[in-house]
Amino acid sequence: MEKKNIDWANLGFGYRTTDYRYVSYFKDGKWDDGALITDPNITMNECAGVLQYSQSCFEGLKAYTTEQGHIVIFRPDLNAERMESSAKRLEIPVFPKDRFVKAVEETVKANDAWVPPYGTGATLYIRPYMFGWSPVIGVKPADEYQFRILVTPVGPYFKGGAKPITIRVSDYDRAAPRGTGNVKAGLNYAMSLYAIVDAHQKGFDENIYLDPATRTYIEETGGANVIFITKDGTLVTPKSDSILPSITRRSIVYVAEHYLGMKVEERPVALSEVKDFAECGLCGTAAVISPVGKINDHGKEICFPAGMEKMGPYTQKLYDTLTGIQMGRIEAPEGWIHVIE
Ligand code: PLP
Ligand code: COI
Repeated sequence: MEKKNIDWANLGFGYRTTDYRYVSYFKDGKWDDGALITDPNITMNECAGVLQYSQSCFEGLKAYTTEQGHIVIFRPDLNAERMESSAKRLEIPVFPKDRFVKAVEETVKANDAWVPPYGTGATLYIRPYMFGWSPVIGVKPADEYQFRILVTPVGPYFKGGAKPITIRVSDYDRAAPRGTGNVKAGLNYAMSLYAIVDAHQKGFDENIYLDPATRTYIEETGGANVIFITKDGTLVTPKSDSILPSITRRSIVYVAEHYLGMKVEERPVALSEVKDFAECGLCGTAAVISPVGKINDHGKEICFPAGMEKMGPYTQKLYDTLTGIQMGRIEAPEGWIHVIE
């Protein structure tokens, strides 16, 4: 296979049409066999459930080229499980886990020319998504659905890659208590758009959201969970029922405990204690681990001692170990890496 002629090292986080996408249709109470297709466009009824009532959810994972030259994907079974909980919460029929993993593998394999080569800093972003596409006008679930997977090569989510970013405490909430914050519903992102445009206009890279019930505790950003490092090297990460259970964060917790021998605390983290942490980072499939240099809380700056030039030492170690596992430089825990070819 010949790779596409792309300047891999300078890719941003954007969409590019690739050769194949996967689609399976749910009709008459069951999913069909599914297929890879070439048409990137979707035609649907004007009254489709997704268009009227935002009945949709999605996932995000990546394919990597390892040091040994294999194409691999990272923990796709956890994305399948999370999509199952998203689908159930949104009254979308579940796409079976084994079929999810197989479909991701097939889609990546078909698009192998788009998987960025090892060492370029780019990866293939994989976006499975589901939506109601039969017409509904009364508020109810659609009868028919599509499960799809698109892939697109990407670079760093935040411009500047590993350079620390500045985020601000948002006045808006991304989730409601007992709402949909813990699933990957498209609607969670729609409601964050106003806040992110406003943050960018004011010179901030992202919003950090507080718990919607009391606005006392740190939740997460619009597209990533948060990790903190204490001055004595403990990893602290917020626990809340309204944040997305990040697969990257769960992997980092494992890496911290089992590879780096760090102490880990998963607990509610009050905004008032953030000033005492030494390092802060955002973690997610797109964000990987993006260091945070500063949090702006309504004009009051919380500056982490690690500074604005480079990642703090613990964040760097976590980053190196996690990406080392993903890129085949460090042995992975059992079941984390699926080799495609
Ligand atoms: N939180 C939000 C709101 C996200 O959109 C994402 C991205 O998927 C994450 C956290 C990180 O989750 P993961 O590590 O599974 O990609
Ligand atoms: C991901 O990391 O996969 C996400 O879905 C986050 C989004 C902001 C791109």
